[in-house]
Amino acid sequence: VDGIRINPSILAADFVNMESELARISGADFAHVDVMDNHFVPNLTFGPQMVGRIQQTSPVPLDVHLMIDDPERWAPEYAEIGAASVTFHLEAAAEPVALARRLRSIGARAGVAVKPGTPVDNLFDVLDEFDQILVMTVEPGFGGQSFMPETMPKLRSLAEHAKRRGSAVWLQVDGGIGESTIAEAAEAGADTFVAGSAVFGSDDPDTAIVNLRNIATR
Ligand code: DX5
Ligand code: ZN
Repeated sequence: VDGIRINPSILAADFVNMESELARISGADFAHVDVMDNHFVPNLTFGPQMVGRIQQTSPVPLDVHLMIDDPERWAPEYAEIGAASVTFHLEAAAEPVALARRLRSIGARAGVAVKPGTPVDNLFDVLDEFDQILVMTVEPGFGGQSFMPETMPKLRSLAEHAKRRGSAVWLQVDGGIGESTIAEAAEAGADTFVAGSAVFGSDDPDTAIVNLRNIATR
C-alpha cells in the first residue's frame, strides 16, 4: 500500500464560502464531495454544476461520493468533469462492474461503496475491477454521526482478500472518523480516511489533517 490518505468531506464546510473553505484543506490528499439526491439517502446536496466549479477551484483532487439512485445515469458526468475518483453505491447500481469500467475508461478512479448493513462478499472476486472500496462507517446521509465499529469485520475481510491477491485497491472509511476512531479503522485495514466534522469543525483544518495522518500511521 502506498501510504495513507486523508480526505476531508466538504459536507461539513460552509457551502456559501466554498472557495475559502477549500483553501483551508490544501494539505489533504483529496477533497471528498458528497452528492446526495434525497432518494438514495434522505438528504440533498449538490449536482454536477456545483461539483464542476469545485473541481476548478479546489487545490486538491476530488473524491466524489455519489449517494444517489441510478448512478449509471450520473456517475460518468462526474468523471468527465475531471474528478480524480468517482464512487457509486453497490446498492444502487444495476451493473457495478460495467459502470466501474466506464468510469475508468473516462480516466477516473472507480470506487464502489457499501452501507453498514450491506455484505461485501460479492466484491471479493471482482476487487480489481475497482480502484477503491468504501465501507461506510455510518448510515449515509448526514455528517456528524457516530462511528459504527460493527462495520470493521467487513473491512478486515476485504483487507485480507486484497492482500492475498496482491490487489492495489484502496480501502476507504467514511463516517464518524476522528482522532478517537481513526486508529481502529486503520488497524482493521483502512488506508483512506474521510473526515468531515473532525476537519472542518477544527480551528485549523490543516493541523487536524496532520494529526489524523499521524494517528493513522502509528
Ligand atoms: C455521510 C457522508 C460523509 C460525511 C462524513 O453520508 O458520506 O462523507 O460527510 O461526515 P463526518 O466525518 O462528520 O461523520
Ligand atoms: Zn461521503
